[in-house]
Amino acid sequence: MRSLPPLASNGAVEDIHSAGRPKTHDSAELHVSGAARYVDDIKEPRDLLYAAVGLSEIACGAIHSLDLDAVRAAPGVVAVLTLDQVPGHTDIGPVFPGDPLLAGDRVKHHGQALFAVAAETQLQARRAARLAKVEYTEETPLLDPLQAKAEERFVRPPHFMRRGDAEHALAASPYVLHAGQFVGGQEHFYLEGQASMAVPTDDGGMFVFTSSQHPSEVQKLVAEVLAIPLAKVTVEVRRMGGGFGGKETQAAPWACLAALLARQTGRAVKLRLPRADDMRLTGKRHPFHNQYQVGFDAEGRLLAAQLEVVGDCGHSPDLSDAIVDRAMFHADNAYFIPAVSIAGYRSFTNIVSHTAFRGFGGPQGMMLIERAMDDIARAVGQDPLDVRKLNLYGGSGRDLTPYHQRVEHNLLGELIERLEVSSDYRVRRAAIGQFNAASPVLKRGLALTPVKFGISFTAQHLNQAGALVHLYTDGSIQLNHGGTEMGQGLNTKVAQIVAEEFQVPLARVSITATRTDKVPNTSPTAASSGTDLNGMAARDAARTLKRRLAEFLAAREGGTPQEVRFEHGQVRVAGKALDFAEVVQAAYFARVQLSATGFYRTPKIHYDRETGQGHPFFYFAYGAAVSEVEVDTLTGEYRLLRVDILHDVGRSLNPAIDIGQIEGGFVQGMGWLTTEELKWDAKGRLLTTGPATYKIPAASDVPEDFRVALFDRPNEEDSVYLSKAVGEPPFMLAISVWSALRDAIASLADYRVSPALDTPATPERVLWACEALRAVDKPKTVAVEEPV
Ligand code: MTE
Ligand code: MOS
Repeated sequence: MRSLPPLASNGAVEDIHSAGRPKTHDSAELHVSGAARYVDDIKEPRDLLYAAVGLSEIACGAIHSLDLDAVRAAPGVVAVLTLDQVPGHTDIGPVFPGDPLLAGDRVKHHGQALFAVAAETQLQARRAARLAKVEYTEETPLLDPLQAKAEERFVRPPHFMRRGDAEHALAASPYVLHAGQFVGGQEHFYLEGQASMAVPTDDGGMFVFTSSQHPSEVQKLVAEVLAIPLAKVTVEVRRMGGGFGGKETQAAPWACLAALLARQTGRAVKLRLPRADDMRLTGKRHPFHNQYQVGFDAEGRLLAAQLEVVGDCGHSPDLSDAIVDRAMFHADNAYFIPAVSIAGYRSFTNIVSHTAFRGFGGPQGMMLIERAMDDIARAVGQDPLDVRKLNLYGGSGRDLTPYHQRVEHNLLGELIERLEVSSDYRVRRAAIGQFNAASPVLKRGLALTPVKFGISFTAQHLNQAGALVHLYTDGSIQLNHGGTEMGQGLNTKVAQIVAEEFQVPLARVSITATRTDKVPNTSPTAASSGTDLNGMAARDAARTLKRRLAEFLAAREGGTPQEVRFEHGQVRVAGKALDFAEVVQAAYFARVQLSATGFYRTPKIHYDRETGQGHPFFYFAYGAAVSEVEVDTLTGEYRLLRVDILHDVGRSLNPAIDIGQIEGGFVQGMGWLTTEELKWDAKGRLLTTGPATYKIPAASDVPEDFRVALFDRPNEEDSVYLSKAVGEPPFMLAISVWSALRDAIASLADYRVSPALDTPATPERVLWACEALRAVDKPKTVAVEEPV
């Protein structure tokens, strides 16, 4: 692990320098010892009831009768909640309406919650929930997003982006290719499932513990379903056992149901979904059906592209508008397209409502152009890396995205050059050629794919944050901010920033649970911007306190406030070095306010959805990965031999955490593209409801030779200490694994055919692709396989 030079170069003791150091995650010891508290570990109130939900047995249809007598009569049952008993709002759609808290007279997906029950024990609640007698008229569910598109059944209207005349430019291109692609969804598989505990307060309000990335939204929705003011609801999140986007909106229903039952019974209520129900009842990464038409020249330079992405959104809007937008914003990835049009569709299906998942649609959009790059390379007989490099943004007049934001401070040219050398790409390419020539069954493949990921929420108002910092008279510091900790190390980074500002050891800063009564009206912790936003807000609060202390000291000791220095755990003023704690204590006696709020809003960003133009991203984060695979072309099984990553995190706030995010993101992305397959049956029932049938990567799937390095360059934009967001971008580095698989398969036809390979590229799909290529009879011309 390497550490960057300290930010303040005053030669102080190591521990004083926080920002830029590989500090351990503040809860690392608690995580590994099992002592970290999650919602289900919180000491239970004496009167606690346990809740469970009753689920729909059909995916689509009308409910005629819901007979809950047996549920009510079941042992231990204290309360049963149906839609008509909800005092306030019954629609909890986060952005647009369409998400009923409980089904009313219609069911829109299999497993939809129909009612909730509270009982004395968890087992009693879960057993009782199964005793409902429901009469439905079952209708044929709509499960195919392409059929939905044909029938114009959308959860939100289509959106378009264009620059130049793509149609005309395509017609004028010397070479044209088109292909379709299916990109599968993904289950979040957070280790801690959805869980909430609601405790009624004596003023008619509600205190809610939840595992949510968006406590302020939970607060708002709980208040709305209860029909009480937001000010009467407090939501607390200490940490999540993973969120990955799955707890951005979809933690809220369980909190609302627990709160409603708590209100009904006057007792505390906990609702934790069993794993299989968690998988059935909550949305996943959107599966996408993509299509491209690209025009290019004999060297493989893109001239035009018409791109189409169709997101399978499930039954409601949820966040799908923004997610399909982000797929569109990333359908260019790192490449300049002179004339381009992008269409994005949001298909309705009778499935759970798909939701945020690391990358937020970006990965699904990026897959399309990365597929095109490989296909073009094979069409023109070039190494795919050369075609990628040829098409990178950069050079005069080649920096405008399809949404008319300029790509500034593009690091990719240099980053790719460096990775190409450090990974020995050319040498290994030649070696793979030799290996494959001599190996009829085992084939190796290699690919380098880049990532350019836009940082900011595309909904402008979300790009704000608040923080609250208290100084106590012993010199200890308590920090609160609007972000939530889900394992990504946000709290550690924000604490480092505060410690850095005061120049005190990190251990002086105590991190507290995120609470809506400490920092109000917060944004979800998402879009990778947790540190960018909350770090800045916390820095603002710290600077306010420093200013107050400096003014106090200058008045007392002489000199100007600007001359007061916070250094080495001390405060220097008028030739004296005072202990930080003494200064705080003295300030207290002088009646200086020792608590401050901080605020931040991201500058420069805007997007006009009417015209599809603007500057939606404050900056881009970059990275690239080289993956090498070996495929058994008779079975479709494969191994990942080596991965080299060079990733841009600006000036790292914490190299240990950043590298962890890069490794974790890559492995999660690899799972998405290779082994994680979601299966629904013809009735819309999810079949893959646990780890036995749904295969997430295990420790043994991490590439044995895994080399991760940081591209050490400060952010050109004024981000917190010139760092960059890291949560999501590395996820998309895993596209190199998929591309390397296609490379290995393409060797079966001398790289003259570009194999279709939908995802996840399970051994089964890889085998089909191998068979399809073996069936190609030594072609004279290049062809692109249509997708299966
Ligand atoms: N890392 C861990 N360990 N657990 C998580 O749930 N979520 C990811 C990423 N890294 C996640 C994670 C997602 S989807 C996002 S948007 C970011 O972290 C959110 O945190 P940040 O904005 O603080 O990076
Ligand atoms: Mo992350 S998908 O933005 O929560």
